[in-house]
Amino acid sequence: MPIDIQRVLVIDSVDTLCVDLLKTNGIIVDYKLKLPKETLIEEVKNYDAIIIRSDTKITADVITSGASGKLKVIGRCGVGVDNIDIEAATKNNIVVLNTPGGNSLAAAELTCLLIGSLARPICLAAQSMKEGRWDRKLYAGTELYGKTLAILGMGRIGREVAIRLKVWGMNVIGYDPITTDEEARAAGITKMELDDIWPLADYITVHVPLIPSTRNLISKTTLSKCKKGVKIVNVARGGVIDESAILDALESGQCGGAAFDVFEEEPPKSEVTKKLIQHNKVIATPHLGASTAEAQMRVAVEVSEQFIALTGKSVRFT
Ligand code: MLT
Repeated sequence: MPIDIQRVLVIDSVDTLCVDLLKTNGIIVDYKLKLPKETLIEEVKNYDAIIIRSDTKITADVITSGASGKLKVIGRCGVGVDNIDIEAATKNNIVVLNTPGGNSLAAAELTCLLIGSLARPICLAAQSMKEGRWDRKLYAGTELYGKTLAILGMGRIGREVAIRLKVWGMNVIGYDPITTDEEARAAGITKMELDDIWPLADYITVHVPLIPSTRNLISKTTLSKCKKGVKIVNVARGGVIDESAILDALESGQCGGAAFDVFEEEPPKSEVTKKLIQHNKVIATPHLGASTAEAQMRVAVEVSEQFIALTGKSVRFT
């Protein structure tokens, strides 16, 4: 059954291609960023569909209000749908769609760059030069060649990370309850059980959604099973890594460095997260995994095409 989509509200910053494509296909689009919750609850009733990224939380009250009006579809420019109350959407017969593939390369590339920056203290060294210092001895690093990288979550992003860092000579091992041995092998990953992975990894990168079974996947307990000095990267979701446990492990030296692109709360507010961000062995970036021009264009087009497909019409590009 086609869905009647005449008016769309874009709430988070997305590439203009998204708006252009919807308009070309006869859909009215309004772009209203950073709406206060009460305004959003009112506005959402007037639209057949909304488009978000990761900034706005689409909670049950927003959904119920939308469903009492015209709202039928929520589109997310991104992989995860954890900022949407899926249960409320299902209860209110609202279609939720995402763009599973569009951001993969961008997220994988950022992961590799962060792993490289943990091996070589590029950020600190660059800052020292800006401050007018020339401290060659302070900023020596280690090679990635011959080190073991553990990829927890071997979906699209995890596999792209493996393909790239394999070329740099890393031994790549990984865990994923769904990916088969053959799929892992094709990306150069040796599939293992989690308990076998902890003592082997020099670097651990997580590429899992935040669901009950992945919350605090990296915790005090799992960190204690790791090699001393293990380096940890999270470009997936805040909450997959226990931030206080990492902070303690950085202090004790059990963790030799960490890179965080995502946080338990965004923007970060808690003292623990702020301490983590300030730690001299931590590289922190503000949720930039999907932030490349190419990825944003891809996801913008993917969401618009899916909206138009839902109306039962074929997409017009001009
Ligand atoms: C994703 O789920 O793909 C990202 O979190 C999207 C984003 O950066 O907004």
